[in-house]
Amino acid sequence: MRAPATSANLGAGFDCLGLALDLWNEVVAAPGRLAEDDASNLILRSARAVYVLVGAPYPGFELRCENRIIFNRGLGSSAAAIACGVLLGNACLGGPLDTNALLDLATSIEGHPDNVAPCLLGGARVALLTDTGHVLQSPVSVALELTAVCFVPEHNVPTAHARGLLPTAVPLSDAVFNVARASLMVAALTAGRSDLLAEACRDRLHQPFRLPLFPAGAPLLEAAVQAGALAAYISGAGPTVLALCQGADQVASVKHAFETRAADLDVAGSTFVLALTQSGAHVVPT
Ligand code: HSE
Repeated sequence: MRAPATSANLGAGFDCLGLALDLWNEVVAAPGRLAEDDASNLILRSARAVYVLVGAPYPGFELRCENRIIFNRGLGSSAAAIACGVLLGNACLGGPLDTNALLDLATSIEGHPDNVAPCLLGGARVALLTDTGHVLQSPVSVALELTAVCFVPEHNVPTAHARGLLPTAVPLSDAVFNVARASLMVAALTAGRSDLLAEACRDRLHQPFRLPLFPAGAPLLEAAVQAGALAAYISGAGPTVLALCQGADQVASVKHAFETRAADLDVAGSTFVLALTQSGAHVVPT
C-alpha cells in the first residue's frame, strides 16, 4: 500500500479543506500472527476495523513500513497509516467496502475528513462530516501549477494537543471571516486566481491559537510571503508551515527564506519541496 502526505485546512478551511502531497508512506504486508500490539499499531488497528465491520475473523498481518511522512508534524501521517490499514483489510477481504464506506471508516478512526479524503482520493478536496457521521467530499480542481514548500520543525506537536488550544465558541465576525476566505480559496484554486490565495488563507479559527506552540511559525510564514510565496499557512494542526508557490524561482526563493530564517531563529527542521498529487492511497500488488 502507498498513501500520500496531506496538508489540511489550507489556512481558512479549518476542518474542511485539504490536499494531497507527493510524499508517500509505503507498507508491505504479509500474512502474520495476531499480536498484542495490533491494537496500538494504527495500520493494523485500521485493517482490523475492516474485518470487524464486515464480520470476518481478523487474521493478523506482518508489516514492513517505509515512513517518509514525519509523525505529528501536520502532514497527515495518521491519515496515511489509517488509509494503508483500511486498504489492506479491504483488499484481503476481496473489496467488500466501496470508497464511501472506506472514507467513513477511516475518518471514524482518524477524526479529520480534511486529511482522510485527500489521502484516500488524492488531489485537493472539500470534505466534511454530516450529522449522521458520513463523509461528504468533493474534489477541487486546481487550475494552477502549485508547489508546496514546507518547513518541518524537528519538534512535534500531537494533533490532540493542538486542538485542545482552540476556543469552543467564536464570535460571529470570526466565523464569517473564515467562511468567506475558505470559499475564496476554493474559487481561487478553481479559477486559477493566484492573486487571491494570500487573502484566502488568512484565518481566525485555529492558526492564532496554534502559533504560540511554535514561536518560529509566525516569522517563518512572514519570511515565505516576503520571499514571494503566493500564500503560507500552518499545515494541518502544525507545527509544519507550508507555502504555496508557482515556478522554480519562487520555490527556490521561498526554500532559501525558510532555511535562512530558521537558521537565524536557531530552529531545527527540514525544508521539503513537494508537488501536489492527484493520486490517492492505493494497493500495489506484489
Ligand atoms: N483539521 C484538523 C485540525 C487537521 O486542524 O486539527 C488535523 O490534522
